[in-house]
Amino acid sequence: MIVLNVLLLVLCSIYPLVDGVGFRGFTFQGLEEPEPLKKDADKDVIEGWIIQPLDHFNYRDNRSWSMRYRENSVFLKKNGPILIMIGGEWEISNGFLQGGLMYEIGSKYGALMYYTEHRYYGKSKPTKDISTENLQYLNVDQALADLAYFIETKKKEKNLEKSTVIVFGGSYAGNMAAWARLKYPHLIQKAHFLEYYEVVTKSLGKYSEKCVEDVKIAFDLVEELLTAQDGPDKLKLYFNLCNVPNVKSPSDLGYLMNTLAEIFAATVQYDNVENGQTKIAALCNNMTAAHLGSPLQRLAHVVSKQDKCLDVNYNNFVKKYRNISWDSPAVQDMSELD
Ligand SMILES: *[C@@H]1O[C@H](CO)[C@@H](O)[C@H](O)[C@H]1NC(C)=O
Ligand SMILES: *[C@@H]1O[C@H](CO)[C@@H](O)[C@H](O)[C@H]1NC(C)=O
Ligand SMILES: *[C@@H]1O[C@H](CO)[C@@H](O)[C@H](O)[C@H]1NC(C)=O
Repeated sequence: MIVLNVLLLVLCSIYPLVDGVGFRGFTFQGLEEPEPLKKDADKDVIEGWIIQPLDHFNYRDNRSWSMRYRENSVFLKKNGPILIMIGGEWEISNGFLQGGLMYEIGSKYGALMYYTEHRYYGKSKPTKDISTENLQYLNVDQALADLAYFIETKKKEKNLEKSTVIVFGGSYAGNMAAWARLKYPHLIQKAHFLEYYEVVTKSLGKYSEKCVEDVKIAFDLVEELLTAQDGPDKLKLYFNLCNVPNVKSPSDLGYLMNTLAEIFAATVQYDNVENGQTKIAALCNNMTAAHLGSPLQRLAHVVSKQDKCLDVNYNNFVKKYRNISWDSPAVQDMSELD
């Protein structure tokens, strides 16, 4: 039995994305990192590796692999807390161990700080390639077990068995922090976690309630059109889709709705000031602008591309990920795919 005290802290939308790639089709490249608070900050961070089981849930499978992490122990005091920034679907680097909220808490409370790399990302490669067979070990249950094993191992190794563990995460890794609590409820002291799109709605509503209303009107109409007789053709026209959406395919439906919805999620998650206004303000100003037509037309305005049609075919989306090489474009540079 693993005994952890995990105090949970979920950060969902504070760090905007590095090159503003957006997360359409989950081609997300990582959280933008805080600036180091001092010169030579890299000297405080060391890189480490921990041997992890490939399959935490099959004791007959003894295969293992090396998971990478980064550590900053300059503030550590006796029995200080352990703060862990959970890595998500990106490569880890030093930033969160050199500045930002976790770092400030760490410096104040004499903490040991870590940034763990998620299996299958960055240099943490558990298998020789990414064939379907080998990708069966890429799932959140295994990743959470990696985290639990990491905490247990480090507590012993550093003689910090009594320390409180606080986990941090943004985006998918923010969910991981919350799921760690669900999965190990006896180990966790506190959690505050709202459903993702509730936070998105609240954030838009803070800027303008009208924005939330018009977004809702537009989405209600999309749903109506999906079941109306000539609705799918109309959707193709309004949203400049490459094909008439196949409403009989749950995957295509899900992918279409995700495509329409995630611009709001991404705008909230990576909100920052651009050209003198926040991205939320820019988006909501479009969603409430009467001169752009009905709420549905405004939604089309913010979602559709002018120069090329919007491909909402799920199989085309999946095609990009069929190359099983660690050198495949999907692994190496996900932004090229968009
Ligand atoms: C793993 O198990 C196999 C047989 O099941 C055995 O041959 C091998 O030596 C084991 N490897 C390790 C590292 O224990
Ligand atoms: C909203 O409209 C402005 C001006 O028309 C445009 O520059 C901006 O890109 C739009 N924003 C979004 C998120 O669609
Ligand atoms: C997969 O990607 C690698 C690296 O770009 C490339 O060399 C290889 O030909 C690709 N394989 C297939 C089957 O497309």
